[in-house]
Amino acid sequence: MPKPMSKPAAPTAYVCGSCGARAGKWHGRCPDCGAWNVMVEEPDRTAGGARFDPAAAEPARLYAEVDPVATERLSSGFAEFDRVLGGGIVPGSVVLLGGEPGIGKSTLLLQAAALVAAASGPVLYASGEESAYQIKDRGQRLGVGRAPVYLLAETCLERILDEVERLRPALLIVDSIQTTVSTVLQSAPGSIGQVREAATRLLFAAKQRNLPVFLVGHVTREGSLAGPKVLEHVVDTVLYFEGERHHSQRVVRAVKNRFGAVSELGVFEMTGAGLLPVPSPSRLFLSERAASVPGSAVLSAVEGSRPLLVEVQALVSTGAYGTARRTASGIDHNRLSLLLAVLEKRAGLSAVGEDVFVNIAGGLTVSEPAADLGVVAAIASSLRDRRIAEGTAVFGEVGLGGEVRSAGRAELRVREAAQLGFTRCVVPAGDAARTTAPPECALRGVGSVEEALAALAE
Ligand SMILES: Nc1ncnc2c1ncn2[C@@H]1O[C@H](COP(=O)(O)OP(=O)(O)OP(=O)(O)O)[C@@H](O)[C@H]1O
Ligand SMILES: [Mg+2]
Ligand SMILES: [Zn+2]
Repeated sequence: MPKPMSKPAAPTAYVCGSCGARAGKWHGRCPDCGAWNVMVEEPDRTAGGARFDPAAAEPARLYAEVDPVATERLSSGFAEFDRVLGGGIVPGSVVLLGGEPGIGKSTLLLQAAALVAAASGPVLYASGEESAYQIKDRGQRLGVGRAPVYLLAETCLERILDEVERLRPALLIVDSIQTTVSTVLQSAPGSIGQVREAATRLLFAAKQRNLPVFLVGHVTREGSLAGPKVLEHVVDTVLYFEGERHHSQRVVRAVKNRFGAVSELGVFEMTGAGLLPVPSPSRLFLSERAASVPGSAVLSAVEGSRPLLVEVQALVSTGAYGTARRTASGIDHNRLSLLLAVLEKRAGLSAVGEDVFVNIAGGLTVSEPAADLGVVAAIASSLRDRRIAEGTAVFGEVGLGGEVRSAGRAELRVREAAQLGFTRCVVPAGDAARTTAPPECALRGVGSVEEALAALAE
């Protein structure tokens, strides 16, 4: 519950995000540069709201004299989660966990809180979204038990920091950053000023005390983290918790990590007793597919910065009507026509007079050229009524001459496929030459559509 704001501890200023001009009150339009909606509240450091104490500042140190610290990572209690973090929780790091409403962010972090508390000492779980009773209720379902987890139903940043001071926890969880407000600012919870202030102060606290901090972040309809972009820059690690509400699979992935590789995945299953780690996600993933039927190909795509394995389904059937139909869902219709023409001219596979349906399973849309080879593979497989060898993933752009061209981020795609249990990737020859695949996944480079189809049938 947001409390009525008490008088601010220090005066604040509004600063233009565009030109840096300062003003004593909020303006819809910057009085200096005239930009709209750019004024953001900030604590006025010139008027005693200082956060930086010059007396406590350290002088610059010679690189060679800085001792390398062997950072002992903390385990979250879940190997699946630790891997995404780059091998556990780094002391003093701030991790932002984003995800859609109801996906299970609080569940995951409460489970981790209990496991960390049992192994490493007290954990402070501050929630501005739920009461201690609600959290306890969830905890009972999850079997939290007697581990030293402290619950604090609080939105006030300063109160949370006071409790950190008092309890000296091994881990701090703040659920969520958007509900956390500082009394230093007058802006509403969730405003750019408040979110930035809370994140920055928590970051200071984390670095000062070597305290690891998890922040829950809300995600907008478009799927990006709500709040200022700067939030993602401030924190050390940004994780997304994803899954379809009506399915039990959940995936945690890193999109930024100062302490490890991104594109690592942690896979969980949501159950009544909370999240269960899924150590071999390929099984879970493949269970969604009708056990390798003709016309089904697995494509290793990249969405934004994120690798994503999707199933391309094709069905070629003799048209009942005079005109052949071409139906594409999840891929561009014109691209489908082009790929059908390439298949006919360059690989001698004709679908003339036949109905062709192509679908990306799960209602996804794939727009990148690297999807071409997945589409071609699925169509050819349906046309020939021959299954694609089990455990094979593909990607690659197809040119008009039937050549298979390199796709970007080959390494990312191959690693994702390997992680999901695929043992072979049929990829553009150019990419195969440049990519080091994990030992459990063999690369098969192909230069043309014909070569690709031969490789897929092996
Ligand atoms: N008894 C139950 N059995 C199985 N699953 C449950 C049960 N109770 C809750 N859940 C699952 O937990 C989900 C809620 O998880 P949680 O509250 O951790 O999500 P959240 O990401 O923190 O959401 P919000 O953004 O609203 O805080 C529900 O959507 C549901 O799928
Ligand atoms: Mg929650
Ligand atoms: Zn301005």
